[in-house]
Amino acid sequence: MNVDHYFKKENLDLNLKDKIFVITGANSGIGFALAKLYAKYHGKVIFACRNKDRANAAIERILKLYPDFDYDFIYFDQSNQNSIKLFIETLYEKYPNYHSLILNAGILKAAKEEKTNEGLFLINGTNFINLVFLINELVKKNGVSEYRHKIIFQGSLMTSFAHYSKSCLLKSNSKGFSSYNVSKLGVESLFYFLSTNNKNININYYLAEPGVCKSNIYHFLPSFLSKIADGFVSIFFHSADKGCLSAFVLSISDKYHILRPRGLLSIRGFPKQYKIRKKVKKYYIDIIKQAKSLL
Ligand SMILES: NC(=O)c1ccc[n+]([C@@H]2O[C@H](COP(=O)([O-])OP(=O)(O)OC[C@H]3O[C@@H](n4cnc5c(N)ncnc54)[C@H](OP(=O)(O)O)[C@@H]3O)[C@@H](O)[C@H]2O)c1
Repeated sequence: MNVDHYFKKENLDLNLKDKIFVITGANSGIGFALAKLYAKYHGKVIFACRNKDRANAAIERILKLYPDFDYDFIYFDQSNQNSIKLFIETLYEKYPNYHSLILNAGILKAAKEEKTNEGLFLINGTNFINLVFLINELVKKNGVSEYRHKIIFQGSLMTSFAHYSKSCLLKSNSKGFSSYNVSKLGVESLFYFLSTNNKNININYYLAEPGVCKSNIYHFLPSFLSKIADGFVSIFFHSADKGCLSAFVLSISDKYHILRPRGLLSIRGFPKQYKIRKKVKKYYIDIIKQAKSLL
């Protein structure tokens, strides 16, 4: 099945003119593939990125394909709560009518132990705890907004491998992969918590999963290992162009709330509706409490 055939089957309204899509981490991998797809269907994309040069390079690549591409850039560093606050303020000032915010930025592992601006472990702090902070800021702003917005979290199948414990956010430093798994358990928990406690009719929450796909997520590896990883993922898994489909479909269709690619280990790339994981249902309140205590 090709992507066009999939869109036809899903009966999607692909006229995105006048719709504004905000993507965090839009300069690379899945975020970039998503920006390209919105550009193809004439949607406006706001690049929420931490590096303007990398964002500009990505924008140039899209402009070569779609010269009429409409875009903007807002500085956004998810490892820094001041930056997140400023980002939300700027977003609501410039684009109060944005259609969807895709919370895609994330980091798998740091080359060495690092901390966020507030001294949290880098992986948990960036991927999860600071998303709790971001949502708090956004909900405050949205209380006075007259527009409806879709908020889409980028989850991961690594949630299934996450080891939950009472103090997992404090214990999992950024040296191993367990911190990433726990951070994604946190992201899925945050989605579930918000969707089951949502009192604001102007915001709707969604969970997208890309499966395993080729991107720059393993760039912390030495370059020869990164090349091996690239080759392995290209042979056995799918591309970022397919990995972005869950978030894309959730943003333009009202049919689903959770999408992740079908197949064992999500190999095929084309999204399918799923339910929340049992593990998340069991731990979500605890893990949100842990995150809030660290804010
Ligand atoms: N690839 C997969 O197989 C896979 C599987 C499951 C889930 N995911 C999730 O998909 C999302 C996108 O990952 P990807 O695979 O596309 O990886 P990627 O190519 O490395 O893209 C990650 C993006 O996040 C940005 N980012 C990282 N830290 C940031 C920060 N502190 N502030 C702002 N932006 C930051 C990166 O910016 P820079 O370019 O400036 O570093 C980059 O644009 C992540 O949430 C990841 O966990 C990926």
